[in-house]
Amino acid sequence: MHSTQNEILRIGKCFSFSKSISKFEDYKTSEKFDVIFFDAFGPDEQPHLWNRPFLDKIPGLLNENGILVTYSVRGFFKRALKDLGFKINKLQGPPGKREILRAEKLTF
Ligand SMILES: C[S@@+](CC[C@H](N)C(=O)[O-])C[C@H]1O[C@@H](n2cnc3c(N)ncnc32)[C@H](O)[C@@H]1O
Repeated sequence: MHSTQNEILRIGKCFSFSKSISKFEDYKTSEKFDVIFFDAFGPDEQPHLWNRPFLDKIPGLLNENGILVTYSVRGFFKRALKDLGFKINKLQGPPGKREILRAEKLTF
C-alpha cells in the first residue's frame, strides 16, 4: 500500500486501496465510498478538522448508509455529524481506547 503511486490496488473482492497525497480540503473525486476511517490528529491539535465547514464534505463522499469511524467521541463532533444527517453510535474501542465512534449516513 505504501509503495503505490496513482494506481488502484485491489486487495480483495470488496476492498481496494488508492492513495492521494493531498489535503482533505483539496481532495477531489467522483467516487463514493462505503467507509471513511477518519484518522485525523485529535480535536485539541487540529480543531478545524473536527468541525463544520470542514466536515460538510464527508456526506458527499459516502454511499447511502456509508460509515465513518473515528477515535473521537467528543460532544461537539457528534453534534456536527448529527446535523449533517448521521446516526451516531459508540462502539467498544481497541486496547487503550475505551470507545470509538461509528457514524452512519442516513438514507431519507
Ligand atoms: C493520526 S495521523 C494518521 C496516520 C495514518 N493513519 C497513517 O497510517 O499514515 C493524522 C494524519 O493526518 C494528516 N493530516 C493533517 N491535516 C490533514 C488535512 N488537512 N488533510 C489530510 N490529511 C491531514 C497528517 O499529516 C497525519 O499523517
